[in-house]
Amino acid sequence: MESILEKAKVNHNLKKEEIIELLKTDNSLLFETANKVREKYKGNSVHLRGLIEFTNICKNDCFYCGLRCSNKKIERYRLTEEEILNCVKRAVNAGYKTVVLQGGEDSYFTSERICSIIKEIKKYDVALTLSIGEKTLEEYKAFKEAGADRYLMRIETTDKDLYKSLHPNMSFENRVNCIKTIKNLGYETGTGCLVGLPNQTIESLADDILFFKEINADMVGIGPFIPHSETPLANANKDNFDLALKVMAITRLILPDINIPATTAMESLKENGRVIALNSGANVVMPNMTDTIYRAKYELYPNKICINDSPDKCINCIKGKIQAMGREISSSKGYRNDLF
Ligand code: SAM
Ligand code: SF4
Ligand code: FES
Repeated sequence: MESILEKAKVNHNLKKEEIIELLKTDNSLLFETANKVREKYKGNSVHLRGLIEFTNICKNDCFYCGLRCSNKKIERYRLTEEEILNCVKRAVNAGYKTVVLQGGEDSYFTSERICSIIKEIKKYDVALTLSIGEKTLEEYKAFKEAGADRYLMRIETTDKDLYKSLHPNMSFENRVNCIKTIKNLGYETGTGCLVGLPNQTIESLADDILFFKEINADMVGIGPFIPHSETPLANANKDNFDLALKVMAITRLILPDINIPATTAMESLKENGRVIALNSGANVVMPNMTDTIYRAKYELYPNKICINDSPDKCINCIKGKIQAMGREISSSKGYRNDLF
């Protein structure tokens, strides 16, 4: 294992067999090496992206997600443009340089409506990330022209059969095409996967990591899968933190200069999970800017952190955690090529 890590630290390439070996081994050296690579390429700054969960309405039925359309138990909501802009102002006032607009695939938000929101948000001089799922080429183009800078769409899994079994009425090929289109249009492109899905193999996780490298992702978010009671995967294993951390750390080794968030799901599974992730290769945190009244309704998975907290509480909480680690809060918009 030591020799694989030594090699990866220098040339940032790993073969599938080597990734598999790293995924199968429990050794803190992986995390220490990823932390060093993060420090060398990204410095000690942590980028904060203000997350706005603007609609929990979704036409899709992903087997793992609490927002899936078949879940009749959640109360649905969508924010008005004014409410979205209030979240943006909150993030800007806290000094954040990026906001992320995330939601289900909600057909109320037509291309025209999204473009109008993008233009309003861009008046605040922030980088804007969209995470609103699969759209057409024309829609992606229109969002880019309206001012969106980045787009996040996880591949979720590169195992085609597993993908098919978890996504009724969706296609793996279309997901890949969307991600490639986003990249070709010049968005900073974020992708990622879920770790610990039932029937997911270590080999397929190695393929996921190689996929991030192949498409040269600018951002990779790794989510430990957390089973939700109102989904078909309710009884699945939820002990996925350690494996997700390994996938994240290996991703840092082979894509040394990208942005990697310490994900909310990591902290939801393990106390201080984001701090652990920031010490294992991550350099980004996405604090929740959504009003408290909506938070519990954006229940992708159970025990999600911060659902009873206010945006101000999150702003102060995360600042305190980062400073206590001896890391700084970045004052840049945090593009991949920004120097720290
Ligand atoms: N609808 C858009 C999409 O799917 O790309 C964006 C919003 S979706 C809620 C954001 C991410 O939540 C998904 O990419 C998925 O990986 C994650 N997610 C959904 N259910 C989850 C679960 N049970 N555990 C962990 N992450 C989950
Ligand atoms: Fe909808 Fe995204 Fe959840 Fe799938 S993961 S059901 S697309 S919100
Ligand atoms: Fe929300 Fe800590 S980040 S309370």
